[in-house]
Amino acid sequence: MIKVTIDGHELEVENGTTILNAARSLGGDSVPPAMCYYSKLEGSGGKCRCCLVKVAAGSAKDPRPMPKLVASCVTQCQDGMIVESKNSQEVLDTRKAIVEFLLLNHPLDCPICDQAGECHLQDLGFEHGKAGTRYQEGRRVFNKIDIGPYIKLHMTRCILCYRCTMVADQLTPERVHGVMWRGEVSEISTYVHKAIENDFSGNMIDVCPVGALTDNTFRFKSRVWFLKPFNAHRSCTKCSGNVVAWKHGNEIYRITGRKDKYGEVEEFICNDCRFEHKNAADWTIEGPRLIDRHSVIGQNHFEAPYQDLLAKNLLK
Ligand code: SF4
Ligand code: FES
Repeated sequence: MIKVTIDGHELEVENGTTILNAARSLGGDSVPPAMCYYSKLEGSGGKCRCCLVKVAAGSAKDPRPMPKLVASCVTQCQDGMIVESKNSQEVLDTRKAIVEFLLLNHPLDCPICDQAGECHLQDLGFEHGKAGTRYQEGRRVFNKIDIGPYIKLHMTRCILCYRCTMVADQLTPERVHGVMWRGEVSEISTYVHKAIENDFSGNMIDVCPVGALTDNTFRFKSRVWFLKPFNAHRSCTKCSGNVVAWKHGNEIYRITGRKDKYGEVEEFICNDCRFEHKNAADWTIEGPRLIDRHSVIGQNHFEAPYQDLLAKNLLK
C-alpha cells in the first residue's frame, strides 16, 4: 500500500492505482470528470483530457511538482504524492477550457437528442463549463448512418473517446469499425459501411458518453425522464440477463445495462436481451432502480442553485 494526498485528504491505495481511481475511492467533488476512461475497458483513457489534475509533489522520494497537469486516469499514484483536483484554480480553469474544446464541434441539439438527460457532456458542461461561448466558426457536419440494424451513428456528436471501438475489440469476436483519418477530419466509421452485427455490439450505445451512438429501437420514443427504470432479469445463455428495463406504464420502451455512479456499465449485456425482449412478460422485475447521478435521475440536476435564483429575483 502507498500513501497519497488528494485535495488535502490522505488515503492509502494499492501500489499501481491511478490517481483517478484513488480519487474515486475518496469520493465527493475531488473526483475528476472522465469522458474517455472506462474501468471495464482495458487501455481506455488518456484521450479527452477532462481528468487533468495538478501533482504538487511527485513522491516522498522526489517531492518536486510535475511541470504540467497530468491525466489522472493514466497516471499512477506514487508513495507520498500530493495531488490537487478541485482545490487547484489551474485545474478548474483547464477543465473549463477542455469543455469549450469538446464543444467546438459538438452540435447543441440537446433538445432533440436521445441522450439528453443522461449525457455526460451535458453534465460536464453544467458542472465544469463556462456559461458563454466564444465560438463563431461552422461545426463539422456528417450524415447520420445506420451501422447495423440496431445502432444509429450520429458522428456530428462524437467526441472521439474511442470507447465504442474498445467494446468492439474486447467484447465482440470481430471489430469492423474504428476511427478513420486523423486530426479534424477523424471520424468513427465502419469498414466501407459494413454492418455491425455481433451479439454484444449494443454495449457501444451504453459506453458512448454522448448521443453519437443511439438505439434504433428506442430513438425518439420518449425522453428518458418520462420513463421509470427498474432492475430486471431474465435467464439468458449469452449474458447475465441483469438489465435495467425502462418502463412507460406497463410497456418496456428500452433495455440497457446497469450503470454505477460513474455511469459505467456493471455487466455488459447481449443484443438479444437489449433489443429483442421488450415484452414485460420476458422479464422478472426486481424493483425500482436507484441511480445516483445521471439520467432522469439528473432530474433537477440542471436547476440553477437556489441562491442564484434568489439573487436574480426569480423566487418570491
Ligand atoms: S461514437 Fe461515442 S463511444 Fe464512439 S468514439 Fe464517439 S463519443 Fe466515443
Ligand atoms: S478520462 Fe482521462 S483523459 Fe479522458
